[in-house]
Amino acid sequence: YYIPEPSNEPVLTYAPGTPEREELKKAVKLARKEERDIPMYIGGKEVRTGNKIKMSPPYDHKHVLGHFHEGDASHVEAAIKAALDAKEAWENLAWEQRASIFLKAADLLAGPYRAKINAATMLAQSKNAYQAEIDAACEFIDFLRFNAAFMQEIYMDQPESSPGIWNRLEYRPLEGFVFAITPFNFTAIAGNLPASAALMGNTVVWKPNYSQVYSAQVIMEVFKEAGLPDGVINMIYVDGPVAGDVVFNHPDFAGLHFTGSTAVFKHLWKTIGQNIDKYRSYPRVVGETGGKDFVIAHKSADPQEVAAGLIRGAFEFQGQKCSAASRAYIPSNIWEAVKKQMAADLKEISMGSPEDFSNFVNAVIDKKSFDKIAGYIDRAKKDTDVEVLFGGNYDDSVGYFIEPTVLLAKDPKYTTMCEEIFGPVLTVYVYDPEQYEETLTLVDQTSPYALTGAVFSKDRYAIELATKKLRNAAGNFYINDKPTGAVVGQQPFGGARGSGTNDKAGAGINLLRWVSARTIKETL
Ligand code: ALA
Repeated sequence: YYIPEPSNEPVLTYAPGTPEREELKKAVKLARKEERDIPMYIGGKEVRTGNKIKMSPPYDHKHVLGHFHEGDASHVEAAIKAALDAKEAWENLAWEQRASIFLKAADLLAGPYRAKINAATMLAQSKNAYQAEIDAACEFIDFLRFNAAFMQEIYMDQPESSPGIWNRLEYRPLEGFVFAITPFNFTAIAGNLPASAALMGNTVVWKPNYSQVYSAQVIMEVFKEAGLPDGVINMIYVDGPVAGDVVFNHPDFAGLHFTGSTAVFKHLWKTIGQNIDKYRSYPRVVGETGGKDFVIAHKSADPQEVAAGLIRGAFEFQGQKCSAASRAYIPSNIWEAVKKQMAADLKEISMGSPEDFSNFVNAVIDKKSFDKIAGYIDRAKKDTDVEVLFGGNYDDSVGYFIEPTVLLAKDPKYTTMCEEIFGPVLTVYVYDPEQYEETLTLVDQTSPYALTGAVFSKDRYAIELATKKLRNAAGNFYINDKPTGAVVGQQPFGGARGSGTNDKAGAGINLLRWVSARTIKETL
C-alpha cells in the first residue's frame, strides 16, 4: 500500500476497572446533562432555524438530551448549492489529500472522540456500551481506513497498454451532488454513506435519521476537525418528502446513497425514474434496505451453538439490526436442547438503561417502532397457529422497552416468519429433520428479502446443500455463526432482492458506484 495499510480497530471491552470504562462513564454523564443545541451544517455554517425538535433517550422519555433545528425546502436548496459550490475545488484536490482527511477522522474517532461518539450513540440510539463500541467506534473507523485503501486499489486498477499506446482510466467523481439518507441503527453506516461518496471526490447533502442526529453531529465535528473543507458534506434535518421534492427535481442530482426501509427506497427509486429526463446523467441509486434474516440448523448442529447464535443474532441491539436473526428453522431432534439453552440464556439477560453497563437489552428506538412491535406480539398472543414461548411483555411508561420475545410458529408462513418487524422478536419453526432440503426451499421462498442468513451444521454435505440452495437468499451468508456483525474488510456487507442493490458497504464495490470512469487512449 502507498497509503497506510488498514487493519481492524481493536474492540475495547469496557470491562469493570478498565480506563476506557471510566472515560465512557464520564462522557455519558456529560452527554446526559449537556442539553445540546444542534444546528444544521450548510457550507460549513451552522444553521439554526428555531424550529427545535426535542431529543430524548428512547429508554427515558422524561429526560431531554437537547434539541436540533429542523429546516425546510429552502435549506435543502441551500445545501445543494453549497455542495455544488464546493465541488470543483474538492474534486480537483489530489486523492491523497482526500484520503488524509478521512484517515485523520478515523484517528480522531479512535482517540479523543471515541468516548464522545459512543456516549452519543448510547444515549440517543439506546445502544449498550459494547454495541456502541463495535458500531460508532470500530466499524466507523474501519470504514474510513479501509475505504481509503480501496480507493487506492481502484485508482491503480488500470487497463493494458502497449508500446506506442498508453491506455488509462480516470475515475471521475459523479457530475452533480450525492444525496445520502441514513438510518438510526448504525452510527457507522450513517457516517459512511456521506463519507464514502465524498472520499471519491463527490460533494454531498446528508439527511440523517431524526433519532440519530446527536451522533451525526459528533461525526460532523470530527470531519471538521480532520480538515474536511466547508460544503463537502452538508447535513440537514428536513422532513423526507420535503427534502425529496427538492433533491429529486434537481438537474444536478447525481446519486442516492441510502440505508433504510424497503418501502421508502422503492418510492424514491420510482420518483427518480419519473424524473429521469431532468437529470444530466442516470443517477447512481445505491440502497441497503430491509431484511428477514434466517437461521437454519441441520440435525447435526450443536444446540448450544445454535442457541447462542439465536440469542445474540436476534436480540443484540433489540433486534434493530437489518441483519438480525428473525426467523429460525430448527430440526425437532435438537429443538428441546436449543430451547433449554435459550431459556437459560434469556434468564441471564437484563433489560434497562444503557447507562447501567450491565444491561444487555435496552429500549427500542421510538414510539412508532414500539407500537409496531407490540402489535405483532399482541396478534401472536391471540393467534392459534403461534405460541409465545419466551418474553412477550412490553412497557413504555419509562422508555420503549420490549422483552426479548420468542414465538413458536406452527405455520412456517406465519406473519412473523415473513414480515420484517425490526425489533426483539424471533419466530421459530420446528421442522422434521428428514425434510432438510424441503426446508431450505421454504427458507428461500418465505420472504422477499435477501440480506443475511446462517446455517448451523456439523455435516459438510448439509452445509454444501444450504450454500447452494440458499445462493440468492442472502447477500451475507454465515456458516456456524450468527448472521450479524459483519466486519469491514472481512465480510463486505449487503443483500439483494428486497434488501437492496447489494453494493457491499466496506468494499471497493461500493466506492465504484461513486465514480464514473473516463477511458483515455493516448497514442504516444
Ligand atoms: N453490518 C451490520 C451487521 O452485519 C448491519 O450486523
